[in-house]
Amino acid sequence: MTRRDDATALPAMEGRGFYNRNSAMQAAGIAVLAPLWDRACRTVAVDEAPLVVVDYAASQGRNSMAPMRAAIETLRARTRPDRPIEIVHTDLPSNDFASLFRALEEDPASYRSGLDGIYISAIGRSYFEQLLPDGRATLGWNTWSMQWLSEGVGGAADHALAGMTADPALAAAVRARQAADWRRFLAVRARELRRGGRLLTAYTARAEAEAGWEWLLGSLWEAILDLGRDGLLTAEEQRRLTIPIGLRTLAEIEAPFKAGDVRGLTLEHAELVRVPDPFRADFDRTGDARLFAQRHADTTRAWSGPALAGLLGPRDDNGAVIDALFARLAGRLAAAPQTHEPTLAVVLLRRD
Ligand SMILES: C[S@@+](CC[C@H](N)C(=O)[O-])C[C@H]1O[C@@H](n2cnc3c(N)ncnc32)[C@H](O)[C@@H]1O
Repeated sequence: MTRRDDATALPAMEGRGFYNRNSAMQAAGIAVLAPLWDRACRTVAVDEAPLVVVDYAASQGRNSMAPMRAAIETLRARTRPDRPIEIVHTDLPSNDFASLFRALEEDPASYRSGLDGIYISAIGRSYFEQLLPDGRATLGWNTWSMQWLSEGVGGAADHALAGMTADPALAAAVRARQAADWRRFLAVRARELRRGGRLLTAYTARAEAEAGWEWLLGSLWEAILDLGRDGLLTAEEQRRLTIPIGLRTLAEIEAPFKAGDVRGLTLEHAELVRVPDPFRADFDRTGDARLFAQRHADTTRAWSGPALAGLLGPRDDNGAVIDALFARLAGRLAAAPQTHEPTLAVVLLRRD
């Protein structure tokens, strides 16, 4: 591929294993996907060609353990118990791959523990490029990443998330970028998957009326404004702190298939689900609003902190400002706790 890939410049998740320790929300969404992933593993075409499972946007790996183990078990049950299986984890070059490999060795839930014949590798390159030779992948797994745009589309004066701005011009730029990214992602995956292969991709999206992020990211925007009032952020910096994430509707997800623009892939399943709040039950039991808020603030920091630090730019006190921002977020969430149930698009594709 010759296209210049701007996603390569995006910062990945909060490093040193912080994302692994603070991604219960994403894990809750992954649990919802288990039946559909099981269907993909049971129906994918399997013959004597090498079995290759690709985990696109693995981050630090914790949330990949259960789906990779499920794929191994089902593929071996369908073939033979000692069948060699390759697992390929991909992410951006800035990803904390060291934590991923450490989790594979040390996490009690690691899919490789107790198993022989599992061959693991990693690719540090944006998935808007073709990452594997044609027809190489048997199964593809991709969660909680395709909401990230391949590049920023500018700052919003009214929200922390590009996909939630009310500015018509910026909203149109987000929609155009996310539509092009979706087509691009599908085109390169169609090349990589072998015939009869399956790809499950699930990412946060929006129902027509709401995204499910109104409380959490509305509060993040309020926290940005707080720091502005405190003189910690200029107006220009407040505007710049716009996370390059778009939220597709189901119609936007289905559009390239309806238009006949996706060669080689059939849309087997597409729906929007609500992800349960992983911290709510504890909160109901204990009434501890501060802990509830801190968990949500840490989870939010794990996926957005490095992007916000990058958008803030080179200030000597960059780290302190980001610390202050998430302290403000935690304070706001604790003052008005709500249930966070983001919308997740769940998509299963078959390579024809
Ligand atoms: C929220 S994490 C999801 C990690 C894991 N799949 C999960 O469900 O917990 C999003 C990941 O997407 C990665 N990502 C974002 N844009 C990407 C791109 N263009 N190519 C590859 N990875 C990308 C980020 O680096 C990050 O590790």
